Amino acid sequence: MKQQLCTVTSNREIMPGTYLMWLEAPDADTRAQPGQFVAVKCAGFVLRRPISIHQSRFVRASGKGEIALLFRVVGKGTSWLSQRQEHDKIDVLGPLGNGFTIPGQSERLLLVAGGIGIAPLVFLAQRASPQHEITLVHGARTAGELYTEHCRSAFDNGQDVHVIAVTEDGSVGRRGMATLIVSEFLDRADLVYACGPLDMYKAMAQMSLRSNLGLATCQVSLEVRMGCGFGACYGCTINTRKGLKRVCRDGPVFELGDIIWQEVKV
Ligand code: FES
Repeated sequence: MKQQLCTVTSNREIMPGTYLMWLEAPDADTRAQPGQFVAVKCAGFVLRRPISIHQSRFVRASGKGEIALLFRVVGKGTSWLSQRQEHDKIDVLGPLGNGFTIPGQSERLLLVAGGIGIAPLVFLAQRASPQHEITLVHGARTAGELYTEHCRSAFDNGQDVHVIAVTEDGSVGRRGMATLIVSEFLDRADLVYACGPLDMYKAMAQMSLRSNLGLATCQVSLEVRMGCGFGACYGCTINTRKGLKRVCRDGPVFELGDIIWQEVKV
């Protein structure tokens, strides 16, 4: 964990209300693991905003590492963040938490993203490819909330990722809910990784119970209200089948089957 003032190298609205920000983050590009997050200090707020790390890279021209944050404006803190410009400095703490793990024997990974939950899964796909065969199912309500085109540009370094777009209104890609379409790909997957809204996880947990589809090998990234972001305040504690866990420190990635979904509040 490291606190640093990071320089914004770019920040643009890539979809209505959704921003892609790149930050210089010396050595965070090599330390950051998919599924980890940073806690960003937004002006006027005591508590930092936890945001998933979306990508990392080394920029040859500057000789510096960078991380990307993909975030949606949902309040005054993220609104302030969305207005930061190139060369502005931002107080960032991280990388924090425990990210996704990929067991050595796995070959085929199925990634399931709901809405802005695509953010850490792009990072995971970048790191896991080309050693793994990757299918990424990305669901959103409508075309304007789908990150699929940007995904494709994130995978232009030779990563072989099969991206399937799903919209609830059918405006792009397959029509329906990502969780329904996922079942078509489960029998080919060694492992499932998911990031999305609570309802999506609950549906996946139900699917797992009903059909014995093996979602016990599913890792999910949880988003709950946080205080300190590094395990000190216990404000993010949840009850799991393995006892009380702090989402910021023990997670945010957990196994789907370990979470008592009825008790989770976001
Ligand atoms: Fe403080 Fe998790 S936010 S312990």
